[in-house]
Amino acid sequence: MTTTSVGGGRTGWRRLHAAFRRRAARGLWFGVAATAAVGAGSCTVSAQERVDFAALRRQMVRDTIAEPRDGRPPVLDVRVVDAMGKVERHLFVPEEVRDWAYRDSPLGIGWRQTISQPYIVALMTELAEPAPEDRVLEIGTGSGYQAAVLAEIVDHVYTIEIVEPLGLRAAAALDMAGYGNVTTRIGDGYAGWQEEAPFDAIVVTAAPDHVPQPLIDQLATGGRLVLPVGPVGGRQELQVLEKQADGSVERTRVIPVRFVPLTRDR
Ligand SMILES: C[S@@+](CC[C@H](N)C(=O)[O-])C[C@H]1O[C@@H](n2cnc3c(N)ncnc32)[C@H](O)[C@@H]1O
Repeated sequence: MTTTSVGGGRTGWRRLHAAFRRRAARGLWFGVAATAAVGAGSCTVSAQERVDFAALRRQMVRDTIAEPRDGRPPVLDVRVVDAMGKVERHLFVPEEVRDWAYRDSPLGIGWRQTISQPYIVALMTELAEPAPEDRVLEIGTGSGYQAAVLAEIVDHVYTIEIVEPLGLRAAAALDMAGYGNVTTRIGDGYAGWQEEAPFDAIVVTAAPDHVPQPLIDQLATGGRLVLPVGPVGGRQELQVLEKQADGSVERTRVIPVRFVPLTRDR
């Protein structure tokens, strides 16, 4: 794995955003980073690959994240690339799709939900600009994979899942994988986690049709909210909102994406 480029830090995502804007200008926008909302297509892996998850993971990180072969902008933050190389994605997906764990594709995890494609996980992590001392909130635990990637980098991750069986399974997977710095909760993440606020970053992995105000309120000054915004099945975009000293937010629109909807407890 090559992790020689250092592009992270507190301004790394601006460089990435500029790269996406250049691609958009060349008409290369879709099919690059838009996530599919449903599981993977067909895939064939040899018996040897099936047992060598570490090799598959190294290949995934190199070919789709650090040095993408299809020309999309690489994720350059070394901490993010290293975390993607460490987290064992196959431990967070259901047995039936385990052989596909290191494809750059979303996979079904049950209850009509998905684990996002690795490139999008890496991109959202880079946009959050995680630092070792940070406390991060994730909305949409799903499989627990994104929480694990964040937990490799930051001090503590809080994560909320609305579908109880998914949340319980993710909590068990995180525990089994040794992520003692992740706290899980079952509930509606729209309201955030007031008791643990403020957060240095908040990553939302399901799409609301507007930015939830409680999440802005629970950001620390200088904190970043990374989320897809848009209607179900319609045009959604990945946005980054950075909280300013006066409480206002500076919004950056990054790329078009497709995520499962943020549902609400009624
Ligand atoms: C794309 S999946 C998340 C993938 C996950 N981050 C992972 O690494 O596997 C989106 C998740 O958000 C959850 N979700 C949807 N609405 C939610 C809400 N209001 N609060 C918390 N979780 C929610 C869904 O149940 C689903 O598990």
